[in-house]
Amino acid sequence: MTRIILHEEQGPMEIKVGGESKWLCRCGLSKNQPYCDGSHKKTLDEVKGKVYRYNPDGRREEV
Ligand code: FES
Repeated sequence: MTRIILHEEQGPMEIKVGGESKWLCRCGLSKNQPYCDGSHKKTLDEVKGKVYRYNPDGRREEV
């Protein structure tokens, strides 16, 4: 089964665990879910109102 899920966030969310910062991925691109791995930087030049698909090799295409 395959699902297409839309993510609009372009950065992580900080949570504190035992006083230590952890960064949770909200963009959906991290290869280290649920944690941010910096992949959200690929989304920073997205144009608002457009929809993009990110392929497993990291290429982005407009849908
Ligand atoms: S928020 Fe998804 S990789 Fe950083």
